[in-house]
Amino acid sequence: MHFSDDPRLRVDKGKLRLKNPVISASGTFGYGIEMQDIAHPEYYGAIALKGITVKPRAGNPPPRIVEVSGGIINSVGLQNDGIYRFVEEKVMPLKRYRTAIIANINGTTADDYFFITDKLNENASVDYIEINVSCPNVKEGGVAFGKNPKAVAHIVKGVRAKTNIPLMLKLTPQVTDIGEIIRAAQDNGIDIISLINTYPAIAIDINTRKPLLGNIRGGFSGPPVKPMAINLVWEARSATDLPIIGMGGISSWQDAVEFLLAGADAIAVGTWHFVEPDIAAKINEGLCNYMDKEQFSTLAEISGYTWRQYNE
Ligand SMILES: Cc1cc2nc3c(=O)[nH]c(=O)nc-3n(C[C@H](O)[C@H](O)[C@H](O)COP(=O)(O)O)c2cc1C
Repeated sequence: MHFSDDPRLRVDKGKLRLKNPVISASGTFGYGIEMQDIAHPEYYGAIALKGITVKPRAGNPPPRIVEVSGGIINSVGLQNDGIYRFVEEKVMPLKRYRTAIIANINGTTADDYFFITDKLNENASVDYIEINVSCPNVKEGGVAFGKNPKAVAHIVKGVRAKTNIPLMLKLTPQVTDIGEIIRAAQDNGIDIISLINTYPAIAIDINTRKPLLGNIRGGFSGPPVKPMAINLVWEARSATDLPIIGMGGISSWQDAVEFLLAGADAIAVGTWHFVEPDIAAKINEGLCNYMDKEQFSTLAEISGYTWRQYNE
């Protein structure tokens, strides 16, 4: 048996039910299937697919990814083929693997989110819908919704009315009070909280004196954001009992443990896939060894362990 299938790694909290706690963060693992030769989809508890929109999007002008100290800035801008081809071409090929499938949905209007949800609900082919209200790389919608509790309430309520598929809300770190956003979502039927998306960032070439990204601004991710992401997971845990998926800068099993101790029930890896595509398997192995050594028999005992010492 592979570590990824070890029953001690099961996540079973509220609507979040996964065989292990490792998720591929949206946009960093394509549609899963193209990665199968280097990172088997079954190493993951769930695969969050690249964000989708109603119509196909070409994304932002290149260059769209730049390496900076410790991480990357991306301005992909939700390039995708649109909802109409999504289920047939992207979801169905992944269905043969034992992993949960998360559709990451995006819109420039609230109606876009409702429309995509309707389509996903019709054929019920995904296990979770992740409402992305935190993309910093689009001109309309995206993070503008995620900073505004009223907009979050409206979108979550409308999406909830369309489906019984479990709903995740992907949060931006760009808020003064993350609890306010979480409560707005929880009051309107959200099931799971996922955080964080990227931080807005700019890099400039000092020789050409031009921005390095075609879009000027992008979203920063990778190891340097980890302590800030953990702070927000801690705050989110203080605001809700809902399941939390923590992400931001995870590059090792030790990082995953840190997120769990702060209050996450599962974790997602994004940028580090570009460095170690097989990181999911390593994290599951590391978690199993940590549980042996520290005598934890379930993942739930680790989740929120440190947070509880200071809050109960
Ligand atoms: C190239 C790239 C593309 C991304 N695309 C999406 C996306 O389509 N939808 C989304 O919700 N987040 C997207 N993200 C954000 C990641 O899912 C994740 O929230 C963020 O990168 C923080 O995790 P990390 O530091 O492990 O990368 C993207 C990130 C990167 C680096």
